[in-house]
Amino acid sequence: MSPARGPRVVLGVAGGIAAYKAAVLLRELTESGHDVTVVPTAASERFVGRATFEALSGHPVATDVWTGAEQVPHVRLGRHADLVVVAPATADLLARAAHGLADDLLTNVLLTATCPVLLAPAMHTEMWQHPAVQDNVALLRSRGVTVLEPASGRLTGADTGPGRLPEPSEIAAACRRLLGSGARRGDLAGRRVVVSAGGTREPLDPVRFLGNRSSGRQGVALAAAAAARGARVTLVAAHLEVPAPSAVHVVPVGTALELREAVLAAAAGADAVVMAAAVADFRPATRAESKIKKSEDPARDPVVVLERNPDVLAELVATRSTGTGTGTTSAGGGTGARGPVLVGFAAETGDASGSVLQHGRAKLARKGCDLLVLNEVGEGRGFATATNEVVLLGADGTERTVPESSKDVVADAVWDAVVPMLTAITPQVPETPETGAP
Ligand code: CTP
Repeated sequence: MSPARGPRVVLGVAGGIAAYKAAVLLRELTESGHDVTVVPTAASERFVGRATFEALSGHPVATDVWTGAEQVPHVRLGRHADLVVVAPATADLLARAAHGLADDLLTNVLLTATCPVLLAPAMHTEMWQHPAVQDNVALLRSRGVTVLEPASGRLTGADTGPGRLPEPSEIAAACRRLLGSGARRGDLAGRRVVVSAGGTREPLDPVRFLGNRSSGRQGVALAAAAAARGARVTLVAAHLEVPAPSAVHVVPVGTALELREAVLAAAAGADAVVMAAAVADFRPATRAESKIKKSEDPARDPVVVLERNPDVLAELVATRSTGTGTGTTSAGGGTGARGPVLVGFAAETGDASGSVLQHGRAKLARKGCDLLVLNEVGEGRGFATATNEVVLLGADGTERTVPESSKDVVADAVWDAVVPMLTAITPQVPETPETGAP
């Protein structure tokens, strides 16, 4: 990699309607410092003209091996790339890549690339689910190629289903992950993890609720990072402002009580649970059946009485220490002594009674989890200013500061801290098969 120029990325674009989204991905990659050369297929030029890619990348664009042949582009591009990403990857492109065809520049680049390769498929649901396509995907994955799951949703026509190209921001995050984390690839393979994300809403009446400002971005980044590292991920999602990653199982929830139920159910058999959600500590003691109205007499305006919500993280810790409740877990190793690795989040401010770190350490001890992701808020630091750092506090006394970073980087740092804990307390091969009786 050339640090002066930023990571070199080859962006392949195959001939599907989603090719227009490749321009957005290209923009995102170049703006974050990547040096991108676009290699479209001839068919993709029916959707997006090469001038768009040349202007946005600052590099000439070719589809065949004959243009600029004196520079042997089919070998040079693949050999010098730090990452090759193809978005969209059509059924035809997947087939040609899987079977080693070399009939245009992009397939030649795929054969000469020694760097990580990421394919983002997009096609109609029937095509994606066809055994021929699935076999090609399996073959590519068996060779170490990262093939993203397509998103579900509206396709080109009126039909909906799996086959949509994941959002360009999601593909860009997957690119960054592959570029930055060669050693991390697959280190969560065979693991089942649960991530809670977003903010719960506690209804007052049919139209009003008590909520919080959590967008769910950090939890979504954690889920995406875990999936990219090979885990099977359940994302318990409370009112996300961002789309959930396509490769995870999403359980939508509304209130803290619903979140509790979903997290405890998913935690059974999980290797790690990361509680990134902002769970309301209180809910209105009563929920009005109809909209609460003003009364004639202001003195008779309603007073909201709050009731405490259960502390889900504390419950997970308690369940783990008694070895009950969340069922048999691979992390328990059959002894019942330990359950999943438990990670909490805390947004704290320093005050007269202690510094942020002191409050974080106290919360870690109080909660009894294995890792606390501590986020300083207030005093000019916080969500709006993005000047906060994250400190990872381990129950074993370890402390790691992640300097001001994107949520993807924080997510990988959290999993970096979790992975050794998994090795220490869980058998690599679960003692109880997940699919059947012992
Ligand atoms: N949490 C939870 N259940 C709750 C509240 C919080 O599981 N009812 C989890 C959060 O998801 C987070 C961690 O606990 O991972 C810490 O959340 P925080 O609100 O900081 O903790 P509290 O114990 O509520 O502490 P405080 O009194 O400082 O609000």
